[in-house]
Amino acid sequence: MKLSTIILAAFTTLTVAVPLAEPQDTTAELSATASIGGLCIIPKVRREWRTLSKTQKKSFIDAVLCLAKKPKEKGSSIGGARTRWDEFQGIHNEQTPFIHFTGIFVPWHRYFLSVVEDALVKECGYKGGLPYWDWLIDAESGVPFEQWPIFDPVLGFGGNGPYIPDSEVHPDDNPIPFPIPGRTGGGCVSDGPFTFPGFKLSINGTDPHIQREEHCLRRDFSPSLALYDLKRTVWDETIAAPDFHSMWRSLEGEPRVMGPRPNIHHGGHNGVGGELGQMGHTYNSPADPIFYLHHANLDRAFTQWQLKKLPQRWFDVHGNIQAYDFAGANGNITLAYPLNMGSVAKTRKVIEVMNTWGGPLCYTYA
Ligand SMILES: *[C@@H]1O[C@H](CO)[C@@H](O)[C@H](O)[C@H]1NC(C)=O
Ligand SMILES: *[C@@H]1O[C@H](CO)[C@@H](O)[C@H](O)[C@H]1NC(C)=O
Repeated sequence: MKLSTIILAAFTTLTVAVPLAEPQDTTAELSATASIGGLCIIPKVRREWRTLSKTQKKSFIDAVLCLAKKPKEKGSSIGGARTRWDEFQGIHNEQTPFIHFTGIFVPWHRYFLSVVEDALVKECGYKGGLPYWDWLIDAESGVPFEQWPIFDPVLGFGGNGPYIPDSEVHPDDNPIPFPIPGRTGGGCVSDGPFTFPGFKLSINGTDPHIQREEHCLRRDFSPSLALYDLKRTVWDETIAAPDFHSMWRSLEGEPRVMGPRPNIHHGGHNGVGGELGQMGHTYNSPADPIFYLHHANLDRAFTQWQLKKLPQRWFDVHGNIQAYDFAGANGNITLAYPLNMGSVAKTRKVIEVMNTWGGPLCYTYA
């Protein structure tokens, strides 16, 4: 592989799709949000994974396994899905061209997490908020990556897959191979609660980047990439951003990995998923339960940024509609822009998910 190809990465493989028409903001819609904050009385508390008790950890993992065994909803729009877990991966797969490197990256993923959190609670009896994974604690601990507690086979999500030297043979049929430096795995996760066939995945999606038959969860650890990207300086810069646009750009990072600037979003994805693991795959990353803990931590950064200036930051949203069109030549999102969840959940507007403590959302971070 040439060095230039190495700079290309997991997050460059989107197809640019024609965006939806931009809805208009109306004064009525904005004033309707005056009801923000009215209904959330007892917020779910999202806690850092390692602060959960053994019982809480086990009950979270059991709830994930429950969704992964529960048949998909009747009338599900997700092609090839067999289970509820597949449906969640599937909607992310379908929406990928609209929700990455666009202004709705942050609000769409916030809404998505809350939909899955609700399913864990209402359908599978989990009590509590979606846990988050504060990778900075691990990155600063000096403990080797493979031994980070989140990968514990009993009280965590299990570890790496066996090393597959030939990463050209991509199981998800990815048209652009994206070499990740220092990758150490690539095969099916071989310990912990999410090994095959106890935990199996199946969607066919609407694009070619997909495996059609039942398959395993794979991981392809890249410890050097994780340590390059997971830096407190990046977190601090994100939280200190002066406006939504720069906060989002700092959070999501450039459309490549191992560029000149470290990025926390890539660090969690490609540190765990490398090249061959689902976590490293733009479309399919929610196959891995760790996805939700990683993104909860990113949502926590968004929340901390908002809390620095309220109520203004419930209304501050700006960014391109079309992927990679960072200058917004083809249009920008507004607070009325739709967050599409297909058959998985109601379509909502950006404004509805700006406050985590009101409207349809009801959670807080400890
Ligand atoms: C994908 O799944 C849908 C619905 O489950 C099915 O109708 C379709 O034939 C599948 N497509 C492929 C290519 O497997
Ligand atoms: C989108 O916003 C940018 C400013 O960030 C502006 O330059 C651009 O003209 C806007 N696009 C449209 C179509 O209005």
